[in-house]
Amino acid sequence: MSKTFIAANWKMNPAPAGFDAKDSPYRQTASVDVVVFPVVTDLQKVRSAELMFGAQGGRPEAKGSFTGDVSIKQLADAGCRYVLCGHSERRKFHGEDDDYVMQQVIAALENNLHPILCIGETEEEDPKNIRHILKKQLQGLPADEKILIAYEPSWAIGSGTPRTPDDVQEIHSFIRSLLEKPTRILYGASVNEDNAAGLIAQKDVDGFIVGGASLDPVAFRKIVAAAEASSAS
Ligand code: PGA
Repeated sequence: MSKTFIAANWKMNPAPAGFDAKDSPYRQTASVDVVVFPVVTDLQKVRSAELMFGAQGGRPEAKGSFTGDVSIKQLADAGCRYVLCGHSERRKFHGEDDDYVMQQVIAALENNLHPILCIGETEEEDPKNIRHILKKQLQGLPADEKILIAYEPSWAIGSGTPRTPDDVQEIHSFIRSLLEKPTRILYGASVNEDNAAGLIAQKDVDGFIVGGASLDPVAFRKIVAAAEASSAS
């Protein structure tokens, strides 16, 4: 079984103090792949610090007239190994739809990156339809072991209240039933040092995307420690 995966999604924030220290919590450990997702202007900083890193998003076209954007190919050339595809904030603020997000996944694979496809229901969507929503978001997914899936209910992001571990387990197990290849399925939305252990203990939770709590090195270290303890048990 592959290692637990924890993404630190720093969003549009500065890299946390001490991110580049030798004993930084943002470095991978024996049992946890820790990968940071900084703003694009900090990619070279995290590269120099020898962290594992990825990008928060990119365009599928290799180059062209897209002022203000960056392509997935350019991110790969800059040393990224991972790219988030269709994070709910990209869907909301940049109008990225399911088709476009799948083009990003394909471009990521073509450039030898690991796409992390983010799926999940929004606050406006009827929770009764969740299976239908997730199925639609996974339509056209190539069968490729490089892909990771992140289930992120956008209404719970930044709210301080994640979905319950039981709910997350049920939803992840449904997602797994739709996938052809062995795939790491991450949970994201309000993961913190208090709830990480309960969530990672679930059978079908293979890691996290951590937003707010990843900006606090003390809290983030505890989240990684919870994942390490769980993989040892
Ligand atoms: P949060 O963000 O941990 O602050 O809820 C998660 C995310 O947006 O990926």
